[in-house]
Amino acid sequence: MHELTTPKDMHAWSRAERARGRRVGFVPTMGALHEGHLRLVDRAKERTDRVVLSIFVNPLQFGPKEDFTKYPRDLARDRTLASERGVDCLFVPALEAVYPQEPLVRIASGPMADTLEGAARPGHFSGVLTVVAKLFHMVEPDVAVFGRKDFQQAMLVRRMAADLDFGLEVDIAPTVRELDGLALSSRNSYLDADQRRAALALSRALRAVEQAWRSGEADPKTLQRRGMQALMAPGVALMAPGVSPGYLELVDEQLRPVARVDARTVVVIAAQVGATRLIDNVVLGEGVGSDIAVRAS
Ligand code: PAF
Repeated sequence: MHELTTPKDMHAWSRAERARGRRVGFVPTMGALHEGHLRLVDRAKERTDRVVLSIFVNPLQFGPKEDFTKYPRDLARDRTLASERGVDCLFVPALEAVYPQEPLVRIASGPMADTLEGAARPGHFSGVLTVVAKLFHMVEPDVAVFGRKDFQQAMLVRRMAADLDFGLEVDIAPTVRELDGLALSSRNSYLDADQRRAALALSRALRAVEQAWRSGEADPKTLQRRGMQALMAPGVALMAPGVSPGYLELVDEQLRPVARVDARTVVVIAAQVGATRLIDNVVLGEGVGSDIAVRAS
């Protein structure tokens, strides 16, 4: 596995591969790799000839009170996991390499970023899209793979790539869950055992909405209520009093609330478990059960 640290080297490597007729796949991450990231690598390997995985904890997407400084970092472990999974090029730029100066020009994330996570985390998606745009220029991939767990992010990146003519495909991969339903996330490492149990309330709420919809309920408000009840079920509150709901919404691919629920409707959820903000979602027609389930590592 090659390891590169400068945008110039990254660019040259990618250009050389493409000059040899190879398609380049790209998986951008902030490190703390888990099976969810590694499945994105598998997917990129299926679709392309060379896979780049980047690790960069992007300060631009963290709010002043968020976890930038304590975000989990373990490059040695990430390097081993990436190499074992067949990543061809690990790109680990330093902060100064990505932002040699304060970026005065940033991506305006638009109205799709004003709701849900964007409403709770002002400026977050502008920070995400700015770094993703920069990484796209550095790597020049043919295909970039994002996880559907971060649904709003994935939709915004896809939209940015189309609106700004990046000339690459944004592929969106299914969520990876532990066998009990918890969606994999680097932030799960912040949870203690009680909080980990309490965090199951998110996937339970998604399943409750899915079940009600499959039994014929089609009113978005009723489905939303059903999900919220499952999120705040007394059993859950007893297990960990620290669960507080953020939102549970039924939206379309543009993140707009739906008036009519159908198989493409996405149920998006966020909750605070202790100090940790967790998000999850399900496409109703696919169901939580169709996501990839893995044993905890
Ligand atoms: O999903 C993430 O890990 C980050 O938001 C990303 C896409 C790597 C941009 O920093």
